[in-house]
Amino acid sequence: MSPSDAIAPWNDPERVRCFASRDPDHRLVPLVDALPDPQGVRVLDLGCAGGRNTVFLAERGLDLFALDAAEAMVAETRARVAGVLGEAQAERRVVQGLMTDLSRWADETFHLVVALGVYHQAQSEAEWFEALAETERVLAYGGRVLVSNFAPGTGKSNEPLELVEGTRFLYEGMHDDHLCLRDADGLDADFAELGFVPETPTCIVERVVEEKRRVTVNALYEKLPA
Ligand SMILES: C[S@@+](CC[C@H](N)C(=O)[O-])C[C@H]1O[C@@H](n2cnc3c(N)ncnc32)[C@H](O)[C@@H]1O
Repeated sequence: MSPSDAIAPWNDPERVRCFASRDPDHRLVPLVDALPDPQGVRVLDLGCAGGRNTVFLAERGLDLFALDAAEAMVAETRARVAGVLGEAQAERRVVQGLMTDLSRWADETFHLVVALGVYHQAQSEAEWFEALAETERVLAYGGRVLVSNFAPGTGKSNEPLELVEGTRFLYEGMHDDHLCLRDADGLDADFAELGFVPETPTCIVERVVEEKRRVTVNALYEKLPA
């Protein structure tokens, strides 16, 4: 499936409503609460979906930008951020685009990238590595990236998704698409290649809801000074 075909389902109004209705991420909230100077932190919410984290970051006064590939997700997040920052700022700060092309931002622009549930949407291993390299490029040294990503074992309770033949971590997705599933060691290794170290131990969380098994790898990395 091409990257654009994989993005189309994210414009489904029901999916937009579902993602918009969620509370802010439970790891992001304490991370932001612990910032000594939130106004001085420039953050990118990568794959912002319906804006649950974007709105939280705007309300807390961070210098916030958000990007998503799906037009409907961007429209929803813009409308919600406009309620906090006004329409002009929402238009400027919430944009449509791909995680593999952050060229609208210069090198070392951000202090924090929030990448929750987005990298695994890569439709090939090449796209995965391009997305990680773009995150590295736009992050300042000493900056951090908060990641959650599906890991192997994800799928139906007794039927995990299958690895695509000839690949290391590209899996058949849940709906005609592909997903890049990384375990904790694999994710740490990919970020280490780009000069990141874990700030907290990378860990796996597993839950089963209505016969669906979701295995997630959670990580927080720091980009080492050059
Ligand atoms: C699971 S949702 C993200 C959830 C969101 N970060 C949150 O915490 O609520 C995945 C999002 O990634 C977006 N997406 C998928 N492929 C993308 C790509 N190549 N570049 C940017 N965004 C992408 C989708 O449109 C969708 O909104």
